[in-house]
Amino acid sequence: MIPVILSGGSGSRLWPLSRKLYPKQFLPLTSDKSLFQQTLQRLSFDGMQKPLVVCNLEHRFIVNEQLAQIGVTPQSMLLEPFGRNTAPAVAMAALHLLGEGRDELMLVLPADHVITDELNLRRSLELARIAAEEGEMVLFGIPAQTPETGFGYIKVGRSEEGDSLIPGAHRVMQFVEKPDHARAAEFVRSGCYFWNSGMFLFRASRYLDELRSHEPDIYDTCVLALERSKAAAGVVVIDAGTFECCPDNSIDYAVMEKTSRACVVPLSAGWNDVGSWSSLWDVHEKDSDGNVLKGDVVTHSSHNSFVHGTSKLVTLIGMDDVVVVETKDAVMIAHKDSVQDVKKLVGVLDSLG
Ligand code: GDD
Ligand code: MG
Repeated sequence: MIPVILSGGSGSRLWPLSRKLYPKQFLPLTSDKSLFQQTLQRLSFDGMQKPLVVCNLEHRFIVNEQLAQIGVTPQSMLLEPFGRNTAPAVAMAALHLLGEGRDELMLVLPADHVITDELNLRRSLELARIAAEEGEMVLFGIPAQTPETGFGYIKVGRSEEGDSLIPGAHRVMQFVEKPDHARAAEFVRSGCYFWNSGMFLFRASRYLDELRSHEPDIYDTCVLALERSKAAAGVVVIDAGTFECCPDNSIDYAVMEKTSRACVVPLSAGWNDVGSWSSLWDVHEKDSDGNVLKGDVVTHSSHNSFVHGTSKLVTLIGMDDVVVVETKDAVMIAHKDSVQDVKKLVGVLDSLG
C-alpha cells in the first residue's frame, strides 16, 4: 500500500494565516508539527510503503524541509506547475506508479486532516485493503453528526444480491458533494449518511479505468502531461504546457460520484478536516469561557471564540462566537457560523489583484 499525499491545496478558508505561498497544510496549527508532517508520521507502520507526495512546484522547498525535519524520504515527488484539483493529481500519481510497473494499492490522503485514534485508523485500513484488493473504490466514511456544508455526504445501502462486498463495508447509494445547509441537516437527521473523509484506497489501474470512462479528457491530458514531464532522482516536474489544458475537477465529482464500485469503509478515529477556523476551534482545548486564544490576546466577557494574534496585542470585549485572526498585513474578523465564506472573501481579494 502506497500513501499518496495530496498537498497542493491553497487552504484559502484559513486566510489570513494560510497563504498561497505557505498554505495551511504546512503550518503547525494543532501541534509543533504541520498537518502535512502529522499525516506522514501516522503512516509509519508495517505494510506501508514510502509515500508519494503530489504538491505544487512552488512548495517544493517547504516540502523538502518538512520531510527532512521528520526524517521521511518519499519514494517520489510529483510537482504540479499549478493546481488542477484532486482528480488530475491522483491521476498523475497513478500513471507514475504504473510507469514504474507498480500497479499497487494507493492510499490517497489529504495533507490537512487531524486523526487522533491511530489504532482505529489501522483497523479501517485493514478492512479497506481487503475491499480494494477485490477491485472496490474505497472511500473512508465518517458518521455524519452535524450539518457541515464543506463535506461530501454519502448514503449507504445494503449490498445487492450477488455483490461480494466484504462484511463491514457498505455499498454507496448516493453521493452528494457539499450540499446546502438545509439538505445537510436533513441528511444528518436521517442517520444514514457518512461524510466523505476525502481519504481513498484503490488500485492504481482501477482508478485510471474509472477516470478514462467517466472523464476521458482528464485521463488523456494526464497521460500526455506525464510523457512530457521532466524526471530526475525521484522528482517529476509536470509539463506545464500540457497540464494547463487539463480540466479542473475533484476526484469526488469526476470519479467517486459516478463509479458503480464505490464502497464505504467506516472510520471512527477522531477525524477532523481542519478546513475552517471553526473546525480549528473544535479541535483545540478551550479555556473556561470556551475560548481558544493564540498569541498575545486578552478577553473580557467573551465566549466560544477563536482569537489568534501574531504581531500585536489583540483584545476582545463582550463578543461571543467570533473568529479574530491578526497577522502582520491583515486582520480578519468573522462570525463563527460564517467562516466557510472566508474562501469567497479571498476570491474577492484575488480579483482586486
Ligand atoms: N496535489 C494537489 N493538487 N493537491 C490538491 C489540489 C491540487 O490541485 N487541490 C486540493 N488538493 C489537496 C488539498 O491540499 C487537500 O489536502 C486535499 O487535496 C483535498 O482538497 P480540499 O480542497 O481540502 O477539498 P475539500 O476539503 O474542499 O473537500 C474534500 O475533502 C472533504 C473532507 O475533508 C472532498 O473530498 C469532500 O467530499 C470531503 O468531505
Ligand atoms: Mg479539505
